Amino acid sequence: MNQRFLFPDLEKGTKEKPVNVASVPQRSPFRYPGGKTWLVPRFRQWMKSFQSVPQLMIEPFAGGGILSLTAAFENLAEKILMVELDEQVAAVWKTILSKDIRWLIQRILSFELNVDSVREILSQKPMTTRETAFRTLLKNRTAHGGILAEGAGIIKHGENGKGLHSRWYPETIARRIAAIETVSEKIEFVQTDAIEVLEEYQLTEDVVFFIDPPYTAGGKHAGSRLYNHCRIDHAGLYSLCAKLNGDFLMTYDNAEEVRTLAEQHGFKTKAIPMKNTHHTKLNELLVGKKLDWAE
Ligand SMILES: C[S@@+](CC[C@H](N)C(=O)[O-])C[C@H]1O[C@@H](n2cnc3c(N)ncnc32)[C@H](O)[C@@H]1O
Repeated sequence: MNQRFLFPDLEKGTKEKPVNVASVPQRSPFRYPGGKTWLVPRFRQWMKSFQSVPQLMIEPFAGGGILSLTAAFENLAEKILMVELDEQVAAVWKTILSKDIRWLIQRILSFELNVDSVREILSQKPMTTRETAFRTLLKNRTAHGGILAEGAGIIKHGENGKGLHSRWYPETIARRIAAIETVSEKIEFVQTDAIEVLEEYQLTEDVVFFIDPPYTAGGKHAGSRLYNHCRIDHAGLYSLCAKLNGDFLMTYDNAEEVRTLAEQHGFKTKAIPMKNTHHTKLNELLVGKKLDWAE
């Protein structure tokens, strides 16, 4: 069958305007590559489409976790389970959800940022989880594009010639972390493989999954540059999603391989406009069992 006919939405292009992310509460301490702040309005719509508030929302590829945080702050789910494999990112969530949160906040507020102090921290191998958490946030906000993967260089010029300081806002980062403490009872974090968690919860009824894997399908390799963990068996992930009892919402880049996989599994797709960090308008793809709430 003609591919065009299958995806009229894509064929026409969407008339929707990209979300202005400035209108969305920024709750994550990260500036995460591939972060989903732009999806917050759609995510709210999806989470409110259920008859009752879901008992559990699972974000198996949590990264900067903006949608998990949104669910927690806005009571969109009773409990939230965040899952991430990357050790650096995991250290941040573990520390924020532990008694070391106060240490982390103080460390951020008291750090004197300059090229030497940043280089010194980034060259060290931290001994503790909380030191790893601090190093991760520092790296995330002083490396080009927030990239934590090996090889990312630190910002030299940054926004308005502000150099290293252009993304390091200690009070803002500290305030966001302190705010998360107010909802920490609702959130659990585990450092493990997303696939294991999806398998574990595959038969659970009152659970929903927001699934945002690294984009490496369809010959696109952005994910391999951005993340330390990026090897995903996309076909296997789709097969697993087809077995989930709970509803799921998946996001992908708008690649033909992705649309074909969705069609093979009987999933719906919808192209959503967003602007990337270079303000280029792109379409990303929502994938789900039903996307009637998104019409
Ligand atoms: C597209 S990013 C998620 C971004 C996130 N939704 C946000 O808004 O910040 C994908 C994430 O999946 C993580 N990841 C990759 N493979 C994984 C795996 N097998 N299990 C768990 N996490 C994984 C990466 O480290 C990365 O943080």
